[in-house]
Amino acid sequence: MDEARAAELEAADPLPSLRDEFCVPPWPDGSQPEWAYLAGNSLGLEPRAARAVLEDELDEWARLGVEGWFESREPWLEYAGSLRTSVGRLVGAAPDEIAVMNTLTVNLHLLMASFYRPTRKRFRILIDDSAFPSDSYAVQSQAALHGLDPAASVVRVPIDDVLDSIEREGDSLALALLPGVNYLTGQVLDVAAITAAVQGVGAVAAWDLAHAIGNVPVSLHDAGADFAVWCHYKYVNGGPGAPGGAFVHERHGSRLELPRLAGWWGNDPAERFRMEPDFVPRPGAEGWAVSTPPVLALAPLRASLEQFDRIGLDALRARSQRLTAYLEELLDEVARSRRMGVITPRDPAARGCQLSVSCEGARALAASLRSEHGVVCDFREPDVLRFAPTPLYNTYDDCRRVAVALLDVLEPCG
Ligand SMILES: Cc1ncc(COP(=O)(O)O)c(C=O)c1O
Repeated sequence: MDEARAAELEAADPLPSLRDEFCVPPWPDGSQPEWAYLAGNSLGLEPRAARAVLEDELDEWARLGVEGWFESREPWLEYAGSLRTSVGRLVGAAPDEIAVMNTLTVNLHLLMASFYRPTRKRFRILIDDSAFPSDSYAVQSQAALHGLDPAASVVRVPIDDVLDSIEREGDSLALALLPGVNYLTGQVLDVAAITAAVQGVGAVAAWDLAHAIGNVPVSLHDAGADFAVWCHYKYVNGGPGAPGGAFVHERHGSRLELPRLAGWWGNDPAERFRMEPDFVPRPGAEGWAVSTPPVLALAPLRASLEQFDRIGLDALRARSQRLTAYLEELLDEVARSRRMGVITPRDPAARGCQLSVSCEGARALAASLRSEHGVVCDFREPDVLRFAPTPLYNTYDDCRRVAVALLDVLEPCG
């Protein structure tokens, strides 16, 4: 827990931290310069460039009014569309397979409206038993919308039993919704293998990539996933409530006959302003867009995606694994004298950057870590603290501060 070692590791890292490109919140009592902010799995920090990009759009609005839709430097008509290439790189998808729109749960509902088509025999939805509550509410309400009993239609299975459960459900399974990275433990799921298993029993493979995008590489197209949804406010640093994203595999994007919840923004752009009453979907994932895109809310995302484009996810993942390994080593050292344990998989390939720790009194400990040590992590029921050393702005010294703080706030054991 030596400051010098953390500094040496930082200096030797092949990818220098981009911390200076971010607004790292100051520690309010001024006794240390900044928070050690390990909560990027919840809300990523603000890229400094976001303000200028947002101000540009405010200036364009002031300069052009409604003509900004066509004449601003980045015409607003295609503002969301112009982010698809960068977003697609993060999830292994072609631009036409991506739509930047809405927020995660809304996109989940929109896509389930098309892809969850239960029959008498095939009606079940499989999720993992630690699924994020919003996903659980969404799938239960979808079952109810079809007049089904949610309790009989939604199967919740242990995450390590997903493959066997898919086999067991067989042809009763209509859809599986699983996380690319589990929000509680940080465990990575094998998108390709699970997608193949789900489709092998004739069901739809859907993915929640909230904790995966910008954290671990994902290859949605090659895996053949049917659809996926995510938010951009965690590792992608798009800002609180930033518009989310959706993926629809190209083999579905061209199925214009697929029933969907339509709105004019999913209409073929060539037809949109003809003001005809009938909906003609545009091909690709944007055929599921419904409403006018929120340009001002998208602007910070443009700044953030520029960083990902510049550095590349592979280099970021490599730094992420080095930082996480260092934090793991320090947490193990803490666990030698304190009652706590890492519940995230130990295999670096089976986790993202987040390490979750189980310990008694976790809620109060999270508060003490912040108020007494300027270490910001988050608490999740029942007894979990999540620490996410993100490669863009976290440093080895942040990891060291976590360990020093834990040693202080946890009672010595034995
Ligand atoms: C794994 C997961 N799924 C779904 C959601 C819900 O996202 P939204 O509020 O954007 O719908 C979250 C939010 O944190 C999440 O972590």
